[in-house]
Amino acid sequence: MLLKGKNIVIKGSGRGIGKAIAIACAKEGANIGLTSRTIDELNTTKKEIEELGTEVKISVKTADITKFQELMEAFMMFHDGLGPLNGVIANAGYSRMWTTHEFINEKFAEILNINVLGVFYTFKAAYPYMKMDDKKDKARFIVTGSEAYPNAPPKLAAMVASKFAVVGMQKAMAAEYKRENINFTMVLPTQVDTSLLRGKKAGDGNKPEHVLDPWDLNDYYLFLLSENANRIDNGLIFSYDFQEVKRVLLEAPSGKKENWEVFKDYFKEKAPKSYDNVKNYGKLVDFIISRC
Ligand SMILES: NC(=O)c1ccc[n+]([C@@H]2O[C@H](COP(=O)([O-])OP(=O)(O)OC[C@H]3O[C@@H](n4cnc5c(N)ncnc54)[C@H](OP(=O)(O)O)[C@@H]3O)[C@@H](O)[C@H]2O)c1
Repeated sequence: MLLKGKNIVIKGSGRGIGKAIAIACAKEGANIGLTSRTIDELNTTKKEIEELGTEVKISVKTADITKFQELMEAFMMFHDGLGPLNGVIANAGYSRMWTTHEFINEKFAEILNINVLGVFYTFKAAYPYMKMDDKKDKARFIVTGSEAYPNAPPKLAAMVASKFAVVGMQKAMAAEYKRENINFTMVLPTQVDTSLLRGKKAGDGNKPEHVLDPWDLNDYYLFLLSENANRIDNGLIFSYDFQEVKRVLLEAPSGKKENWEVFKDYFKEKAPKSYDNVKNYGKLVDFIISRC
């Protein structure tokens, strides 16, 4: 199992992308800390993990990521229940859509508070409990960003501002903690079929074709949490480009897709724009190939 015995906390794991990550990590043998504001959703995630029969430890604590005290209490509890943390995924997020001059002031502030301040609070509260004593298996702090960086779609000024901000925050933190055994990485998804994007329609089976399912992102988080990614720091994993990898792999002749070394020229020819974002992550492509 890829993450056997590791302790991973996932923010926003009551539904959507965070829930999919939590279940995927448990399937790979990790002990899981679940947190968001809604206890019923967290308990549902917990139950679904228990039904897998993996017998991993599961710790559940509600916390609002805009309230530092609540986060400190949550991380203390996760540490007590699970032990030192190998990985923390700052995935909780929020967005609303309005033309900028009509954007409700309080909503703009709330989005920045959840998506930016929440990431800072998460790191600050988690830091004392992150397991940083092993150079060969560094601790991971992973943020769920968005394709809003760098694409900046209209009517989403608050979300765009927040997702640009966390890219800068990551760069600063990766430089600041370079000498410590902790790596900072980010997954930047395109649209995903969750309640954030589709409200109550999420998961109804009628999503537009280009919209991903939450579990389509699992491989990226699992790879970043695994020892395969020990050398990746300040990494940006754009889901669009790695979904292109998956698409091109499906149609590639068998002799062209054994591993990144043999696949890369074929991929460059078929998806030259994505190639630039993928070329430094050959190990992730190998990981995807190994799981195809
Ligand atoms: N869906 C997309 O199309 C898409 C695309 C790009 C990036 N993303 C990013 O993916 C991440 C996950 O979003 P999602 O699509 O999975 O949305 P989602 O289904 O709405 O899930 C969001 C999660 O974050 C939690 N959360 C929100 N505000 C919180 C707060 N103040 N304190 C604690 N937890 C909070 C929610 O739980 P509670 O409300 O119970 O607290 C929920 O568990 C976000 O960072 C989002 O920006 C999503």
